[in-house]
Amino acid sequence: MIKTIPTRPIDGQKPGTSGLRKKTRIFQDPGYLENFVQSIWNGIGGLEGKVLVLGGDGRFFNAQAAQIILRMAAAAGAARVIVGRDGLLSTPAASHLIRERGADGGVILSASHNPGGPDGDFGVKYNIANGGPAPEPVTEAIFRASQEVTQYHIVTAPDLDLSSPGTARLHRTEVEIIDPVGDYADLMETLFDFTAIRALFVGGFRMRFDAMHAITGPYAREILQDRLGAPEGSVVNATPLPDFGGGHPDPNPVWAHDLMTLMMGAQAPDFGAASDGDGDRNMVVGRGLYVTPSDSLAVIAANAHLVPGYAAGLKGVARSMPSSTALDRVAGELGIACHATPTGWKFFGNLLDAGLATLCGEESAGTGSDHIREKDGLWAVLMWLNILAARRQSVAEVMTAHWQRFGRNYYSRHDYEEVDAAAANALVSDLRARLDQLAGTRLGQLRVLEAEDFSYRDPVDGSVTTQQGIQIRFAEDARLVLRLSGTGTAGATLRVYLERFVAGPEGLDAEPQAALAEVIAAAEALCGIRTRLGRTAPDVVT
Ligand code: G1P
Ligand code: ZN
Repeated sequence: MIKTIPTRPIDGQKPGTSGLRKKTRIFQDPGYLENFVQSIWNGIGGLEGKVLVLGGDGRFFNAQAAQIILRMAAAAGAARVIVGRDGLLSTPAASHLIRERGADGGVILSASHNPGGPDGDFGVKYNIANGGPAPEPVTEAIFRASQEVTQYHIVTAPDLDLSSPGTARLHRTEVEIIDPVGDYADLMETLFDFTAIRALFVGGFRMRFDAMHAITGPYAREILQDRLGAPEGSVVNATPLPDFGGGHPDPNPVWAHDLMTLMMGAQAPDFGAASDGDGDRNMVVGRGLYVTPSDSLAVIAANAHLVPGYAAGLKGVARSMPSSTALDRVAGELGIACHATPTGWKFFGNLLDAGLATLCGEESAGTGSDHIREKDGLWAVLMWLNILAARRQSVAEVMTAHWQRFGRNYYSRHDYEEVDAAAANALVSDLRARLDQLAGTRLGQLRVLEAEDFSYRDPVDGSVTTQQGIQIRFAEDARLVLRLSGTGTAGATLRVYLERFVAGPEGLDAEPQAALAEVIAAAEALCGIRTRLGRTAPDVVT
């Protein structure tokens, strides 16, 4: 039976950089999730007769939310919902499934790398038929629907048993429960030289993959250990937990601390990697050497021809504007286009669909290709393994060779988290108001070449997105970017992105924060971040 429940709009159901993210308790408020899900259905023109993919990263409230969404999809007349066992799917696997099955879209339950649990975060993201995050016009329509919703519809039925693959019926909707790992692992086999990577492990190559108690555990075990022969125990923290073991499942040197300690120590294996809560981010680290995501993207682009799935060459590449320009240098040499988009994976979808880019990535540990329409943590790890196998070099040797050839883009991001939102907004708007007067001025040792408020015109659909971060270029081959996070759930987070290029062959081995000292000082001179935000130092430096 379908029940119709009267409701009224709830403030703030506006999808951000990556879906709607809020504190778990807010999502648990009666009607909160239901309102947003109904707004998705309304915003996309209904669900009647459509096929939907559903799954999440297994965080606290994933299981209950999946049952509610199944009942609401049934009430909306969905023909079929394909759901991962126990309501689980990594974000990349969900993207692949939408594409493989020709589904009309998918709902992904995740707040990515944000902590989970009753006091953590929860999130809901809608992906469209190409498998990618809903683009701006769709998220706008969902937001509008959320401001107008007056009722939601839900089927009354007991919870479905999602614990094993099979099919079930909910009202008129068929629910197909699938193994979340198999199809994704098969896709990886089509892209990479599994034989060469297997030979690497036979030869004694050692790696550690830290799944951070999040969704990639089962995927990494199956692919790295079962299919590629990495020794048992190469994948650690491999059982997904609802609160990620109390940790912060964000694969960067700060949060993947144990892995970093191992990789910097005397017993370090050849290769270390980690992924985030929902499996779309990655971290790559060699023995004694952390590879920044921007460098990783550039290396992957420069070596993609060594990997079977990309042997035909790249159509183009894309990066988010704040990501380092290391990628641009590779693209220049390859003679292909390099697109700069606003932050957030949703802007890559059109470029990939139109064949304008094959690879894309962000400085925030996201790397991916046109095999799906999300960034993909394990894919990046396999890319590296395949490159190491083909080049027969260590991570450090690959990096040194890369910097010798292209020069090095020293890069870092300083985050000021959960700061006062009014102060952060004022800092950015005051700076915006001064942009016109900056060119030609000096900030400490650096001279401003140009200052702009980044806006992007999508080359495919012509849509324009404005105010995507303040970008300041210096004459000394340096760059500073400031923007406010669109994924936080408390206060505001200011991100300061710092970059400086050194052509080499000298000066390629500096400590990054030291190499960036003048850019850091310029940022402080420009807008007095620490005074205005009442902080003495950034909360996270990556
Ligand atoms: C952050 C990252 C961005 C990424 C997003 C989702 O968004 O900066 O690159 O796409 O998470 O993983 P932000 O909080 O900066 O808006
Ligand atoms: Zn993620």
